[in-house]
Amino acid sequence: MPTLETQNRQLYLDLLKRVLGDFIYDLGAAKDEKYPTMTWADTRTGRKHTLSTYADYKANGLLFPQQAHTMIGLKRLDNLQFCLEQILAQNTPGDLLEAGVWRGGACIFMRGLLKAYGETQRKVWVADSFVGFQASDLVNTNIDLEKTNYHSVSQAQVAEHFKAYDLLDEQVVFLPGFLDQSLPKAPIEALALLRLDVDFYHPTLEGLTWLYPRLSPGGFVIIDDYYAFEGCRQAVNAYRQVHQISEPLVRIDPCAVYWQKSTSSQGALAPGND
Ligand SMILES: C[S@@+](CC[C@H](N)C(=O)[O-])C[C@H]1O[C@@H](n2cnc3c(N)ncnc32)[C@H](O)[C@@H]1O
Repeated sequence: MPTLETQNRQLYLDLLKRVLGDFIYDLGAAKDEKYPTMTWADTRTGRKHTLSTYADYKANGLLFPQQAHTMIGLKRLDNLQFCLEQILAQNTPGDLLEAGVWRGGACIFMRGLLKAYGETQRKVWVADSFVGFQASDLVNTNIDLEKTNYHSVSQAQVAEHFKAYDLLDEQVVFLPGFLDQSLPKAPIEALALLRLDVDFYHPTLEGLTWLYPRLSPGGFVIIDDYYAFEGCRQAVNAYRQVHQISEPLVRIDPCAVYWQKSTSSQGALAPGND
């Protein structure tokens, strides 16, 4: 029987996820749209999932929300909680980092979970350009940088979102800049969780190149866009192949996968250390 303290912690975390994903007031105009039927198969079990309603699309993080603080949906938030709770239970050393944070919601959840467990040592690294995508990543896509500012959320705005949950403190560290500039000089020693959500080939590969070597054995890598964007998938597959990473990919939902770094892994070398 879980203690009252455990139950209350779960209640806080459930509510946090529902608020961050805007499952409470749910003001999105998207509710009134029609959704095409889409089917995806779980790679482990082969089980087929069919999605066709607004609620399905939202739970699976397939919408561009109007006011939510994260677009990753409930399944990926549940997966984030699962990975973090494993890290704490197994005492896997290191901080937590998301690259590609948008309005900050997934990082806010990480900070909230650390607080709920009374974990005062680990940091949450919040890495983003804070101006949206890099122009070079949009060549050959139909995205016009001049016309889209949906993905561009300033560091000050993300800090305001942390404050709204009373979760902005010294355990939150911002890492501003495009990843090819920010990561090589980032003073990160060890990570227990690496969440990559930068959509395209180059930033995904940069994230893995600079940060996977710092991921502790037993740590988790979450790739938000593996099944959503071909470039992201190619970058992950190329990195895993070069570094002979054979830990299985586990599918979370239509878009995302994760894997746990083996506890016997020697890991890849960071650039400059080989
Ligand atoms: C899909 S959004 C992230 C969604 C977010 N994880 C959430 O919880 O809703 C992608 C983010 O990646 C950032 N980004 C894209 N390319 C980048 C790069 N090369 N360097 C740093 N940030 C980048 C964008 O600014 C944007 O905030």
